[in-house]
Amino acid sequence: MLETSPLGQPIPRVDAYAKASGAHVYPSDVVLDNMLWVQVLRAAHPHARILSIDTSAAETLPGVVCVLTAKDVPGENRFGLLVHDQPVFCEERVLYMGDAVAVVAAETDDLARQARDLIRVEYEVLPPLTEPLWALQPDAPQLHPQGNLCAELHLGHGDVALGFAEADYIFESSYQTGRQEHAFLETEAGAAYYDEAGILTVCAGGQNPFKDRQQLAVALNLPEDKLRVLHPMMGGAFGGKEDINVQIHLALVTQRTGRPCRLMLDRNESITVGVKRHPFQVRYKTGVKKDGTLTAIEVTILADTGPYITLGPAVIGLAAEHCCGPYYFPHTKIDAQAVFTNNCNASAFRGFGNPQVLVGLEQHMDIMAEAVGLTPIAFRRKNVLQPGQAAGPGQITPASISLPRVLDAVEQGELYARREALKSGVGRWKRRGVGLAAAWQGFGLGAGVPDGATVRIELQADGRYRLHASSPDMGQGNVTAFVQMAAHELNCSAADFEVTIGDSLGPDSGSSNASRTVFVVGSAVINAALDLRSKILAAAQRLNTSAEPPRFTGRAAEVNGQSIPLAELAVEFGPLVGEGYFHPQQPTPVVVGIPHPAYSYSVQMALVEVDLLTGEIEVLQMENYLDAGYVINPAGAEGQSEGGIAQGLGYALFEDILLSEGRVLNPRLSTYIIPSIRDVPAQINTVLLQEPEPMGPYGARGISEICLSPTAGAILNAIYDAVGVRFERIPVTPEMMLAALAGQTSN
Ligand code: MOS
Repeated sequence: MLETSPLGQPIPRVDAYAKASGAHVYPSDVVLDNMLWVQVLRAAHPHARILSIDTSAAETLPGVVCVLTAKDVPGENRFGLLVHDQPVFCEERVLYMGDAVAVVAAETDDLARQARDLIRVEYEVLPPLTEPLWALQPDAPQLHPQGNLCAELHLGHGDVALGFAEADYIFESSYQTGRQEHAFLETEAGAAYYDEAGILTVCAGGQNPFKDRQQLAVALNLPEDKLRVLHPMMGGAFGGKEDINVQIHLALVTQRTGRPCRLMLDRNESITVGVKRHPFQVRYKTGVKKDGTLTAIEVTILADTGPYITLGPAVIGLAAEHCCGPYYFPHTKIDAQAVFTNNCNASAFRGFGNPQVLVGLEQHMDIMAEAVGLTPIAFRRKNVLQPGQAAGPGQITPASISLPRVLDAVEQGELYARREALKSGVGRWKRRGVGLAAAWQGFGLGAGVPDGATVRIELQADGRYRLHASSPDMGQGNVTAFVQMAAHELNCSAADFEVTIGDSLGPDSGSSNASRTVFVVGSAVINAALDLRSKILAAAQRLNTSAEPPRFTGRAAEVNGQSIPLAELAVEFGPLVGEGYFHPQQPTPVVVGIPHPAYSYSVQMALVEVDLLTGEIEVLQMENYLDAGYVINPAGAEGQSEGGIAQGLGYALFEDILLSEGRVLNPRLSTYIIPSIRDVPAQINTVLLQEPEPMGPYGARGISEICLSPTAGAILNAIYDAVGVRFERIPVTPEMMLAALAGQTSN
């Protein structure tokens, strides 16, 4: 191998220059000649019957080119990732404030907005279903013919009654988690147009061009090969762009008018329309013996999934899979439900159900540790799942479980060693505390869900390589990792590569989601590189007149004692294209999606400071002991860690979309507060423990989601250490802190 292999090196992003220089064209930057501006009319009520829609005033406004409603959808007026249940345009009923009723296309954005506001919709207002606990009561408004239950799961093993009878201590509490907004920098945006070949093309922020194309084909009543979807690198997604957002509306306008068009959601529109992290109500009941052995766990999950199915069933599935943590409970019972409401639509968000359950589980682990007189680390270590043991829902723990090693590292770490010193000397009105939370997180789509990836690498006529993969890069850096892996296998540097990504014309490498891309797509990259290598050698062999087999050196092939540049081989024998496929070996399903083929592990530790006068909580320092297996790019891995922690910090302390009767109260980034540079600790120390995952490329595991999942639990345990208060609701606001402290002093 080349001594300068980029594998494992913190090389700059392949997209760094284009983005820093402003050359990169984001989905919201696409501007075309003769382009129309699109605006969408949304529901005026969270739950209402549509009595009539009058578009005449909008249509006659000069400069308006078309107004489309449900009757203008040529195909099925529905889309959705698992089930097509979400209307492109509502016909009879609206089920949340983000529902679309009509689109307008006009010569200018101003005209499109004016026309949108001229559409008259007559509604019969219906009572909104806003409380998930009410959803399954007989007197609740019925949102769908099948009722208000979106999905449910009942899992577990053993006999919890027996387990609780064996316990010396039993703890029971209920937790409520916030409705987190993805808050990507670039809202949902894109453009549609006919390309030179007459293909209707949609260029938009999204996480899987093939999945988008499928849904577009159904709604537009077009064969898939008459459609092309492009997902250029975009300004963030975090799970929030898995669902269709602007794509179908844009394509319908271009299909109707023949003209290119564009749409970028305003921030308040994005917050109202876009999917959210499911708010969960989770009840935990745990039992433990005096010696610190866990005996039983009972978990009840109620998720508010909003009006449509989207990925609700999969999110409660992942929550159920992870809600007992990487710990052995001899008796488990898990009951999870996702219910429909007229609140915000909820779907994928980094962590996918795991951050919600860890808020309760990791506090319970500390509560039990304290009761039996063990440190949080010793208690977790004592109860870590052993390979072959049954995890919560019943799946068998894989041999590559590395939590014990991660716990050892925490104990040897700086924050742990200095915890008492760091807590002292902060003055009369402040208190400091240190806390930790552990997590595991499956990566890939899970048992029984097709999870294959195909990647192509082409040797171009100029001797450079081009890597083709459909899984987009939403900002996380996965494409840089792909190039590093390919360059390593082809003995060259990342600079020898160009990339075509996020294109439905390319090979299908699946979604960018579920912490899967380095693991699954990366493995396909390696296979594609090996295939291309053998094709280059076969081409060189055609020139060979000696007995020596040709040799591949990275930028040339050695044959007949001569060095032939790759460009020459490509011109003479091209096109030379390597193709690679990978599908992870999946375990036997407990139910579809559970379990995952493998897991990543992390323990995060937080140092917090509570201001007793204002109730403010400041996170002063974070440590992330992360085993995401072999690290392809350490700078990228640290970026994932720091970004995940920033989002997890917001989840713990600030972020919650608030609704009143189905209407969002804080649809702006001035009222929905995300952490800024002043809130994120200057010191985030990421320790990359690289226990190789046997199935992963070079031993890599998934990294994205596990960086967020344990953060809130660690902060809540640190808050308890600081002030002796346990919170059963996040975000923990200063008001909640002050109320809790007041309650404490009056007791
Ligand atoms: Mo994700 S939350 O699977 O994009």
